[in-house]
Amino acid sequence: MFRFLRYPVHSYFPRSYTTKLAQPTSVRIVEVGPRDGLQNESMLLPTETKIELINALSETGLRSIEVTSFVSAKWVPQMGDNAEVFKGINKMPGISYPVLTPNLKGFEAALNAGAEEVAVFGAASESFTRKNVNCSIDESLIRFGDVMAAAKKAQVKVRGYVSTVIGCPYEGKIKPSAVVRVVDKLLEMGCYEISLGDTIGVGTPGSFSNMLREVTKIAPVSMLAVHCHDTYGQALANILTSLDFGVAVVDSSVSGLGGCPYARGASGNAATEDVVYMLDGLGIYTGIDLPKLVNVGKFICDKLERRSESKVNRAMRKTNPNVKC
Ligand code: HMG
Ligand code: MG
Repeated sequence: MFRFLRYPVHSYFPRSYTTKLAQPTSVRIVEVGPRDGLQNESMLLPTETKIELINALSETGLRSIEVTSFVSAKWVPQMGDNAEVFKGINKMPGISYPVLTPNLKGFEAALNAGAEEVAVFGAASESFTRKNVNCSIDESLIRFGDVMAAAKKAQVKVRGYVSTVIGCPYEGKIKPSAVVRVVDKLLEMGCYEISLGDTIGVGTPGSFSNMLREVTKIAPVSMLAVHCHDTYGQALANILTSLDFGVAVVDSSVSGLGGCPYARGASGNAATEDVVYMLDGLGIYTGIDLPKLVNVGKFICDKLERRSESKVNRAMRKTNPNVKC
């Protein structure tokens, strides 16, 4: 019965089914602060500050930092300096610097700027897709197909996002089957990893489990990431639930910055400081120096003139001698 599966049979199952140890021993964090964190800010940050932020993040042990989006500056003005930011950062060996590309135009601009990894971003909800990228789900998949073909030619890695995996700001609850459909299409196209986005942060461990149970029937756990916004304070719990499924890639945002311009009311992502603290406590390796990360969180919050959304950040600044700010 497993003859028709696309990947080795064991890779479909959450680790809890196949090994004694349910959770992964190491997690790769994809830091989305410079992109997801800043795209929704009312204050336009100077390009040099964004570059300073990314360079400082590169010193913390992160292996993946999402830098910017090659989208229309009319739609998302905060990302209008995409090429300047991408070209201006120090690219450290061993770190990937992916950027978002919704279509071929964005991909070509990213390639010209020197990007070696891009991400296409789809959604499980029809209405959100229309608001976010101005087309239907099927049309968005056709655009991603063009990006995939060009990326293959240029030997650029492509990550795929599926937004609204639990709920949609316009349609309410989203069925896991709608998520499965888009995940399957993106994998078929050749995305190396799929990030499952709870865009408006309405998920709970219950709804995350239901969604992951269905998605892991068609997608290897090793190719999945989770991207949890924290609107209802459930992001860490949802990440922990995902770890129990064997998910070993987690998106998060320094000091919990973030939101989506087309998902009103959605708050930032899980704060990277909080995720790292939890993973450290679980004995799961990330390679990230937490005090250094706390300093970066403080730096960007000062620039944005706001307090950090990360409890770990606020606590460590009071108690940890290695935190300099
Ligand atoms: P459109 O208006 O439908 O595109 O926008 P169009 O092809 O009709 O072109 C209209 C104009 O946009 C033209 O310029 C194009 O050249 C230009 P004009 O002739 O009017 O001067 N254009 C572009 N310019 C720059 N870069 C491009 C590009 N493409 C066309 N790539 C488009 C379609 C996708 C561009 C638009 O809808 C858009 O930019 N949307 C922004 C979406 C976005 O950035 N959303 C936030 C990121 S997704 C997210 O946050 C969720 C995530 O975090 C996961 C989660 O939380 O779930 C990833
Ligand atoms: Mg997001």
